Amino acid sequence: MTTDHFAGATIIVPTYNEAPNVEPLVRRIESALAGIAGEVLFVDDSDDGTVDEVQRVASLVDLPVRAIHRENREGGLSGAVIVGLERAAYDVCVVIDGDLQHPPEKIADLIARFREGDVDVVVASRYVADGSAAGLADLTRNLVSRTTTALTKAMFPLRLRDCSDPMTGFFLVDRTRIDLAPLRPRGFKILLEILARQQLRAAEIPFDFAERTAGSSKASVRQGARFLAQLAALRFGKMSAFAVIGGFGAVVNLAIMWALTHAGLPYVWAAIIAAETTIIGNFLLQERFVFRELLGEASRRRSRFGKSFAFNNAEALVRIPVLALLVETWHISSIVAAAITLAVAFVARYAFHALVVYAPRR
Ligand code: GDD
Ligand code: MN
Repeated sequence: MTTDHFAGATIIVPTYNEAPNVEPLVRRIESALAGIAGEVLFVDDSDDGTVDEVQRVASLVDLPVRAIHRENREGGLSGAVIVGLERAAYDVCVVIDGDLQHPPEKIADLIARFREGDVDVVVASRYVADGSAAGLADLTRNLVSRTTTALTKAMFPLRLRDCSDPMTGFFLVDRTRIDLAPLRPRGFKILLEILARQQLRAAEIPFDFAERTAGSSKASVRQGARFLAQLAALRFGKMSAFAVIGGFGAVVNLAIMWALTHAGLPYVWAAIIAAETTIIGNFLLQERFVFRELLGEASRRRSRFGKSFAFNNAEALVRIPVLALLVETWHISSIVAAAITLAVAFVARYAFHALVVYAPRR
């Protein structure tokens, strides 16, 4: 038996132009909460007067209903949810979409499961037995959702172990169990952000994702791109900054080669000078922007430099002869040949730096 500390729940509703859905949503939440203390908190980025509609509906019901209106739309849907978590009156928060695709009646089930104890998060899942994703507009979106869910679970096998639907926007979270500071809101997948950043205990209940009846979905290709950036940042953390520096270094490398060959230097010499310059330049940029907090430990830094310098020179020792071979046998320009070899080398460097030079300490 666990002691039940439950005092009530804040129902957080992120909204972007959902005016016609406000009244039915609030009424259904009110009946779902019957007998449970709670409030509804809209975090709104609309320009269709959703906030005025919230004020109007608030005066019709007994449940406390308030709205925070934001002008900057910072962090989009995820940013709105974080503001909701910060400003909620209760520690137990239920996040639900404002378009009725998430059945408010299930809020009671989420809270009931939480009160059984031993969990930090309760997820309303479309993919657990009895749940369904029928409301995902078309076959393509359904397929994309299932594929990305499988991919994401494979990337975070432990953290997402107990969650079949980390992309859902319908869940309960105990605010006292999560650290809001490291969350990087972007796009739609705030639950994934919460679950992937720390090990939490999750339980699930099934629900049927309904079809939208009013307003329109804000999902887009741009949201898809944000999702990929989020995955990269969550999984590789600082290593995605490393990739950006590596790409920048390759461009600088080619620019140096171009300038030196145009000044009349033989391309092999140009390649060697470009390689050494960027090997050292990249290392300094990595230390400055990727691993700044490690800089205090001088000996470690020297050892990182040793590994990085040795690997990159060994790589250049292979790469530059290959470059020469490409130029002599295919008669392509030395810049094009260098670009090809650098692209291949990039992959090897990334792997070596992620696994050896900047391997996370255990
Ligand atoms: N405050 C705020 N700011 N709310 C937003 C924003 C924004 O920039 N963009 C969308 N919302 C609100 C919508 O008004 C709605 O209440 C909710 O967030 C979900 O947006 P939809 O546009 O209806 O998204 P969806 O139905 O395509 O996606 C839903 O299902 C996905 C799973 O398939 C959401 O629940 C996603 O979180 C979920 O991943
Ligand atoms: Mn929706």
